[in-house]
Parts: sequence; structure tokens; C-alpha cells
Amino acid sequence: MTDKDISIRIARPEDQATLTQLIGASYAMLDNGRYDAAQLMRALPLMSKANPRLLASGTYFIAEVDGVAASCGGWSFEMPGSRETSPGVAYIRHFATHPEYLRLGLARRLITRCLEEAAAKGAGLIKCQSTLQAERFYASAGFRSVGQIDVEMGPGVTLPVMQMERTLG
Ligand SMILES: CC(C)(COP(=O)(O)OP(=O)(O)OC[C@H]1O[C@@H](n2cnc3c(N)ncnc32)[C@H](O)[C@@H]1OP(=O)(O)O)[C@@H](O)C(=O)NCCC(=O)NCCS
Repeated sequence: MTDKDISIRIARPEDQATLTQLIGASYAMLDNGRYDAAQLMRALPLMSKANPRLLASGTYFIAEVDGVAASCGGWSFEMPGSRETSPGVAYIRHFATHPEYLRLGLARRLITRCLEEAAAKGAGLIKCQSTLQAERFYASAGFRSVGQIDVEMGPGVTLPVMQMERTLG
């Protein structure tokens, strides 16, 4: 694949259906033995929908291959699941690559853009809540693991994730 096949653009609210489909296909890959199957089945519908607030944020991106949405992800100063912010701290949000486009460097391009933008906007630290499968992806982008926690995806539905972070600048 050459660089000219790939373009990155800012997501928009009207990308909701396309990205929900992409994220759903991507997160279905999490059913590969790292998670308790029953727990994952309850969590997937709650975590697989594109987040309208992110789509309207201007800091959530889509990597398109020949015009087809293949990977998405972004960053925010708002903590996932809340509107709280802490000075100088940013968060990586909702990364997913469609199973047909894995290991092509698409998520790497998106995270590079996120790290550059977050640093330019004043973040000195960026955190993420990584699925157990994505830990090596984030490690390759300079994040270190700081501990596993259970995150509430909805009432009575939790999923273990790895908290990760890296400094910026
Ligand atoms: C994590 C995810 C977004 C990575 O997407 P991707 O576009 O395939 O990632 P890239 O091709 O940009 O990978 C960049 C680097 O990350 C590392 N990496 C990515 N996937 C990896 C894997 N499965 N195992 C080990 N290293 C991996 C590698 O170092 C890779 O570089 P290389 O291919 O040159 O070795 C994708 O696997 C995914 O959507 N997973 C399911 C959903 C998920 O867990 N999302 C994260 C939510 S927190």
C-alpha cells in the first residue's frame, strides 16, 4: 500500500453509522480468549458504538483507505466516561482498526497525530485505557502500563483494561 491510498480526516457527527460498524467489527476481535466470554458479550454492545461527543470534538479521526473508513481514534482532555479534565492531562479515545486493515500502520498514523496535537495543545501527559489485546500497540507508541483496572461499561457490566500513559514534549 502506498501513502497516497491512505488519508486521514477529522470525523464528523454524520460518520456515526459508518464508525459504529467499524468499531463493532473491530471490537468483535476481542473475543479471542483474553476476556471472559460472557462478560465480553455483555460489554461489547455498550462499548462498540461510536461516541457522538467524540465525533463532534474535532479531535477524533478516521483513516480511510481508497475512501473506505478503515481505522479510527482520537484524543480528548475530557476523561473517558466523564466531562472532568485535569490540567495538562489528555486521554486517547476509542481506537479501532477494521479486521481487514490490521497491521498496515493505520492506527499508528492516527496515534501519532493525536500525540502531536495533544502536545501542541498543552498536554504533558497522555493516558489510555487499553484493551488487554491492544497493550502492545500502545507500548509501540511509547506508552507504559501502570496497572489493570475494571472499567464500568454500563450498569453492572465491567471489563478489565490496562491503564497506560506516556509523557509528551
Ligand atoms: C489495537 C489496534 C487499534 C491496532 O490497529 P492497527 O492499525 O492494526 O495497528 P498498526 O498497524 O498501526 O500497528 C502499529 C504497531 O503496533 C504494534 N501492534 C499492533 N497490533 C499488534 C498486535 N496484535 N500484536 C503485537 N503488536 C501489535 C506493532 O508494533 C505495530 O507495528 P508493526 O506492524 O510494524 O510491527 C487494533 O488491533 C484493534 O482495533 N484491536 C481491537 C480493538 C481494540 O482493542 N482497540 C483498542 C481500544 S483501547
